[in-house]
This record gives sequence, structure tokens and C-alpha cells, in this order.
Amino acid sequence: MNTQNIFFRFIFIILFSVYSSSISYSKDIIKIGTLLPYSGVYTVLGEEITNAMSLAFDEIGNKINGNTIEIIKGDTEVKPNIALQKSRKLISSDKVDILVGPVSSSVALALRDIVVQTKTPLIIPNAGANVLTDEKCSKFITRISFSNYQINAPMGSWLANQGIKTAFLLAPNYAAGKEMMNAFKEKFTEAGGAILGEEYTPFRKTKDFGPYLARVKESGADAVYVFYAGGEAINFIKQAHSFGLSKVMKLTGAGWTTSPLFLPAQKDAAIGFIGSLNYVPSIDTEANKIFINSYKSKFGRIPSEFAVQGYDSGKVIIEAIKSLSGDVTNKDNLAEAIRTVSINGPRGPLTIDKKTNNVIQNIYIFEVIAGEKGPELKVLDTIKAVKAPGKKCNI
Ligand code: BEZ
Repeated sequence: MNTQNIFFRFIFIILFSVYSSSISYSKDIIKIGTLLPYSGVYTVLGEEITNAMSLAFDEIGNKINGNTIEIIKGDTEVKPNIALQKSRKLISSDKVDILVGPVSSSVALALRDIVVQTKTPLIIPNAGANVLTDEKCSKFITRISFSNYQINAPMGSWLANQGIKTAFLLAPNYAAGKEMMNAFKEKFTEAGGAILGEEYTPFRKTKDFGPYLARVKESGADAVYVFYAGGEAINFIKQAHSFGLSKVMKLTGAGWTTSPLFLPAQKDAAIGFIGSLNYVPSIDTEANKIFINSYKSKFGRIPSEFAVQGYDSGKVIIEAIKSLSGDVTNKDNLAEAIRTVSINGPRGPLTIDKKTNNVIQNIYIFEVIAGEKGPELKVLDTIKAVKAPGKKCNI
């Protein structure tokens, strides 16, 4: 090779490496699409998740490796068909890099195939549908919230061990309600408990719980085990209180039913409820205190578990993109980076189970007590590092 050739080859290599590095770092805008409810029964949950995710981005000046973070919102209205339409727009027209959502299990089931087929990394900040980290798992779906089984199964054994022998189940009639009750039932009956009856109320439509409360009372069970969230949780707890249900049996259930997000509306009607969650505001760690202070100073109220799930989604996005030096162009690499993140956040240690892509986390069993500033969640027990089983998934 003559000197001239060597010179041109050298110049080519220099130009090529400058060009390729400019491709990987020149994205300028990282687009995060949300698929969350901004209308309908779970509106406050969607807003809380979005607020807290924005807080995580604000903390780093809304930039990762020099690229600006842009949030593009999609309102699912808690309706699977609407969510699917919105996902098509976010993926094909807006060309988002990552999707964050949804809140409802039924919506999550509807979105599963489109995110996997288009290889769009999805971070689930709430919806607990079990199959998404089991037989329908994918490396493009990472759940940092919980699986419906993960929160409810521990309550089955725990309540049975506390001497509750019989229970009546009550939940909205959709995927999450059914899965939560089944998880509780499995562990409760395994530990010797008996289910005296179960009712599933029309989802998004039930305003009057009176007829159901009457059947729960008639059952004579030691406890009612329920799941409600959003407006349904507020109505249920208030109506159960006026009905006097807690005078004849223990009120227990999935902890969202008395989330700190709903307590200001439920007030003393929530006192005495026993539930389980992946976060309670009383967790005594530095990370939690800092988070509560900054959430309170920005939004004027204490954060709920939904806020923590939104905040941790933001943190996971930041850490994953940083680990790729800001290069989000390769979706396989991005999905891999997301599932590799582990953080120590407000709820405690959070790691992603490599086998299922579902979060491994502590579950807190609490009782709602009368605090100085109103009802609050007092931790009765902590079950450490709980996994979702995900036996049919092996990513
Ligand atoms: C769900 O649909 O998966 C869900 C909704 C609200 C709270 C918890 C779970």
C-alpha cells in the first residue's frame, strides 16, 4: 500500500468514527410516551404516577447525557381499545423511545402484543396482570410496580396466621380483581382458612355497594377481603363504614383500597382496615424522607405507592439510558439496560428478577390508625424481598 493510500484510509477511519459517534449521541430528544388514565375511574392514579416520574426527571434538569427528556401523554381512559389506539399513535407517529403505563390490568393485557411486536420497551408503573411476567412475559416488558399475586398472596397466609378462619371476597369484575382474590384464596385456604362467598362488582359502574355489603354481612365471615382503587375505593370504604360492617367483621384487603391517595377523602371511615402494599409513607429511611419532602413541596401532599412507582419508573429510565451513554437507538440494548437496573428508592431495595422482569421488593402489611394529622398506615409486618412466581417465563 502506498503512502497516499494509507493517508486516505486513515482519514476515512477518522471521519467514520466521528460520524458513528455522532449517530449514537445525537438523539437530542428522548421521548417517553405515557399510557395512563387522565380521565375515568383511575384518573388520580395516572396523575400521581406522571407527577412523580416528572419529579425524577426534574431532579436531573430533564436531561440525560445531554439529551432532553420529553414526555408525551396518552390518556387510556382505563379502556383497552382506547389505550391500543393511543399506543399506535405514540409508537408510529411520535416515535417514542420508551412507553410507561398502564394502571389497569385489562389495559395492560391489550397492549402486550403491540409493544412486543414493535420492540418498544414498556415500563409498567402499576398494572399487576400476572401473565405479563409469566406466560406472556417479554424482555421488552419490565414491571417495576407489582404483580397482583405478589401483593395479595402474602395476605392469605398472614391473616390465617392471625386467627382469621373465614373470609368473604369482594372486588371489581375485571382481570385485576379476579387475580387478586385468587392469590389471596390460594394462600388463605392452604393455611386452613375457608372462603364463605365471593362477589365481583361491575367495574367502573358500581356506585352503590349496599346490596353487596348486605350479602357480605349475612355470610357471617370473620373478615371481608377486598380490592378497590380510585373513586371505587373511596365509595366502598365510606359506605362500608356507614353500614357498620367493621362492627361485625374485620375489614381487610389489597392495600390500594386505603391508599394515602384516598385517605383524605375516606377520613376516619378507613380506620381499622388491614392491607398490604409495596410502599407505605412511614418507611424510616433517608431515601424515603428525601422523596416525601420533595414530593410534598412540589405537589402539596404526601406521596402514595402510585407516586413511588412513577418516581422509580423515572429513576429506572435515567439509570438505564445513562448506562448506554445516552444512546437509545438500539431497542434490544435499551430493553436489556432497563431490566438490569437496581435502585434503592423510597420503598427500599428494588431489583428486577432476571427470569421474569418483575420487581423483587418488600411487602408491607399495615393497619390504618388514627394519626395526629388524620388516618395513617402503621406497619404491622414486613415480608422481605418478595418475588412473583412467573413459573412459565424464562427470559
Ligand atoms: C390493576 O388493574 O392492575 C390495578 C389497578 C389499580 C390498583 C392496583 C392494580
